Amino acid sequence: LFDTHRTNVWQGTRITITAGPTREAIDPVRYISNHSSGKMGYALAAAAQQLGAEVTLISGPVTLPSPPGVNVIHVESAEQMLAAAQAQTMDVFVSCAAVADYRPAEVSQQKIKKEQKGDDAQLTLVKNPDILKTIATQPQPPFCIGFAAETEKVRQHALDKLQRKQLQLIVANDVSDKQIGFNSDNNAVTVYWQDGEQSFAAQSKQNLANALNELFAQHYFKNKP
Ligand code: CTP
Ligand code: CA
Repeated sequence: LFDTHRTNVWQGTRITITAGPTREAIDPVRYISNHSSGKMGYALAAAAQQLGAEVTLISGPVTLPSPPGVNVIHVESAEQMLAAAQAQTMDVFVSCAAVADYRPAEVSQQKIKKEQKGDDAQLTLVKNPDILKTIATQPQPPFCIGFAAETEKVRQHALDKLQRKQLQLIVANDVSDKQIGFNSDNNAVTVYWQDGEQSFAAQSKQNLANALNELFAQHYFKNKP
């Protein structure tokens, strides 16, 4: 039924994907962010488009070209990413972005000067909204897929997030293995759902994106009312 050569597995499906890091301003020239390259999210968007989906990619600051045929919305902060996600009509939400968990409590309107701070400086942070959880717990939520990069107890943390964020699927990768994951061109993951799991061996993010889209589509169409 789901042969891998089909080009239309997603036909007629509206998919929103978040990708890349977010950037949380400290002052006009400084920010807090992380090392996410956006490669996995961009590869997922390109693959989903090729498989017939109508794809919107909400992207944090990355250096990647827009995938052909994909509607790309560029954002910087987690709050902007949430607003962009909430503005979409979607059947499937794929939350691949490495969202900054915290942002500076105050953004200085002027460049912060050392003279004001002295030898020690503190930055007060506040928690960012959980974009995925917000979308997954709204009334009539889309089919929601999360990602989890973990350094230990990968299965336990992934299943906990699946439950806590009310997701249909979560894609987990072990980032203690330096060869794969963040910033790499390759990735190995395990996908978990309520009563099952499937592992994908290390491979290019392009190949993995195709395989993941096939699995996502199987689950989406199986669970679709
Ligand atoms: N996520 C999100 N908004 C946030 C934080 C995370 O949408 N503010 C999404 C990520 O895109 C990912 C999933 O939630 O799909 C899990 O992200 P992760 O950082 O692993 O989980 P957290 O809930 O932030 O927990 P922690 O970082 O403490 O492990
Ligand atoms: Ca986090």
